[in-house]
Amino acid sequence: MSLTGKKIVLGVSGGIAVYKAVDLVSRLRKKGAEVKVVMTEAATKFVTPLTFRELSANPVVVSMWGEVHEFNVEHIALACWADLFVVAPATANIIAKMATGIADDMLSTTLLATPAQIVICPAMNTNMYEHPITKANLQKLLDLGYKVLPAAEGHLACGTSGAGRLPEPQAIVEYLEQTIVAAQDLAGLNILVTAAGTREAIDPVRYISNHSSGKMGYAIAQAAIARGAQVTLISGPSNLPVPAKVNFIAVDSAREMHAAVLDYFTQADIVIKAAAVADYRPKEVSSQKIKKQADANLTIVLEKNPDILADLGQKKTKQFLVGFAAETNDLISNAQEKLRKKNLDMIVANDVTLSGAGFNADTNIVKLLYPDGEICSLEQMSKTKVANILLDCILAKRKI
Ligand code: PMT
Repeated sequence: MSLTGKKIVLGVSGGIAVYKAVDLVSRLRKKGAEVKVVMTEAATKFVTPLTFRELSANPVVVSMWGEVHEFNVEHIALACWADLFVVAPATANIIAKMATGIADDMLSTTLLATPAQIVICPAMNTNMYEHPITKANLQKLLDLGYKVLPAAEGHLACGTSGAGRLPEPQAIVEYLEQTIVAAQDLAGLNILVTAAGTREAIDPVRYISNHSSGKMGYAIAQAAIARGAQVTLISGPSNLPVPAKVNFIAVDSAREMHAAVLDYFTQADIVIKAAAVADYRPKEVSSQKIKKQADANLTIVLEKNPDILADLGQKKTKQFLVGFAAETNDLISNAQEKLRKKNLDMIVANDVTLSGAGFNADTNIVKLLYPDGEICSLEQMSKTKVANILLDCILAKRKI
């Protein structure tokens, strides 16, 4: 997969491996990429900005307060210009700043502002690299969708041997070509994902809902973003952090979700409805907290909510429509019935009675069902892996 025409911002932080970043700029340009370099003050102590300017054929930015090269606010202009943002070498310090959202110089501020895929190439002393804080920071960034090229092992400038070397520039270029650019297989696609359960108000303090945490839907949104899609995530209440770079719409009830989904439906290429939508809502919503009645039962009359997915099944034109089926019995036949009735292109059936599957679990066990009767069974795996296989299968079916 080619780097030709890719706009790459190279963030260079201060470590002895800065000299390898010089070669990296050269190799990226030979591959046809356009490169702009942002350096930390510390990095300029190892190699001057002039060297990077000559090799990149672009001005090098170091300070927030230096000469402005673009008409727009510089760090925002650079952040938005980038197709890809590579930090090499990435010191423990810049990694810690990224993991905590600190923006106190040009590089850290631009990193916080960019919607581009960020690739971190750590380089530091082995003890620093293996320190639990650095490990936790890298894990946090991985969870947020950043990519990390692990440091290489070998002799380090500090005189020790171990993990912490910046991989050779050629290896970084190959990683970018094979892992990052090739993996942008959803670029240009608009994906609408729904997640979590809806809440149907009974009175100002009570509601009817279900056990959906949002984990499945958020994993799909996150995976789609990492693969280059534009993602709108419409979510019922959830405690999960909103994945970076998604267009996030928070809703409460099924009717709110319905309205939000219709707003984004026409522009969507793919719709994945992982949300657990309440089929019914209280017919009357009391404006005041309902008081306990002595010796009397309370009856709440429920009325039907709109079936959002069935509505989309009627309205769909170009959209590839994927539903989920949460079942406690007759998994296949119930899911097939929903697939047919709602006019779907695929349904993801999960038996929510299995341990390691369904509500609030970190893993899921699903079967993918298609209108032609094909069934693909997946073993227990993380919801992130389910999300990626689901996206692979959608892409494959859309091409047919
Ligand atoms: O969020 P987690 O804790 O990670 O749990 C994941 C999950 C179990 C919620 C998820 O994997 C799942 O199965 N989601 C669908 C739950 C559900 O509502 O299933 P259903 O069989 O009732 O609905 C079938 C499909 O119709 C679903 O895509 C649902 O979003 C949609 N639907 C249902 C009712 C309704 N009124 N409108 C709808 O659009």
